[in-house]
Amino acid sequence: MDEPVDSKTVDPSSVDRFPKQKAFNLGDVVTDAAKILTEEERTKLEEQNKRLVTPFQALKLEQEARKHWDLFYKRNENRFFKDRHWTTREFSELLAGEDPTAAASSSPLAKSDNVEKISVEKKLLEIGCGVGNLIFPLIEDGHRDYFIYACDLSPRAVELVRKHNLYDERYMKAFACDITTEEVFQTLPEASLDIVTLIFVLSAIHPEKFQSTVANIFRLLKPGGVVLFRDYGLYDMAQLRFKPGHKIAENFYMRQDGTRSYYFAEEEVSKLFCQTGFTVMVNSYIHRRTVNPKENIDVPRIFVQGKFRKSERT
Ligand SMILES: C[S@@+](CC[C@H](N)C(=O)[O-])C[C@H]1O[C@@H](n2cnc3c(N)ncnc32)[C@H](O)[C@@H]1O
Repeated sequence: MDEPVDSKTVDPSSVDRFPKQKAFNLGDVVTDAAKILTEEERTKLEEQNKRLVTPFQALKLEQEARKHWDLFYKRNENRFFKDRHWTTREFSELLAGEDPTAAASSSPLAKSDNVEKISVEKKLLEIGCGVGNLIFPLIEDGHRDYFIYACDLSPRAVELVRKHNLYDERYMKAFACDITTEEVFQTLPEASLDIVTLIFVLSAIHPEKFQSTVANIFRLLKPGGVVLFRDYGLYDMAQLRFKPGHKIAENFYMRQDGTRSYYFAEEEVSKLFCQTGFTVMVNSYIHRRTVNPKENIDVPRIFVQGKFRKSERT
């Protein structure tokens, strides 16, 4: 359930820079404006600077990133992230080429029987797939518009994807890879993909590797291909909650379990993709209030969500 965000918490004077997606939930504020911090929040952010992660510790976290994500999936298996059923609503590109007659059947099983008839010429890569919370809801909902590649740094997460009862190599392939390196090209050729999804993944990568990651994605996409992006936004409540001893660098933090998270400014994301050669289709903050009275949850979240296209003429 989502409730209106207090409009006083976003800066109204900020100018629009890029087209924005529409608001999909009642009360979403879709904006170029960063959250305005209260005095108390500003103090909290300043306190984080009192004790920073040491350079030695920061280097170790970077070298052991795979280990930390692998342990995360050992502990949590598929219980941590929720299935992402919102993706086809907010990223309609995931439905491109859908055969409307195929939608007549609502049973995932009936659709999987039909799999041979489905065109898999189009290819999608889900980067940082975790245990498949984006790809399996697509399959469950009968969306088979793409052959799905899914990769993750954690071999354990990839193993969990492969063991899922909807995993079927006729229309998907999961593999372990570090997207910041050239490893991905051992599985996928350059200019082979129509869509890349990057959902809460870039934030887990060291900021010094953002550029090489986005450059790899650019190389992987066909001309005209699109990146669908969502990640944590600047001053999201999770950023404000970090205590001293967790900050690694500006807007980059270590969680208790050794995994890391970056909080993005909207402009920064646009700039990153533009510098690499993408055009911004839409990009904005989404300020969303997530309320669940049953679980006693009422939290204002901030995401950056965008779509970036590789030019047809590259
Ligand atoms: C916050 S989780 C998000 C998982 C999934 N995308 C979701 O939204 O449920 C971040 C994921 O990125 C993966 N990851 C982190 N660094 C990566 C890298 N360099 N290459 C590929 N995947 C990476 C992690 O293993 C983890 O599964």
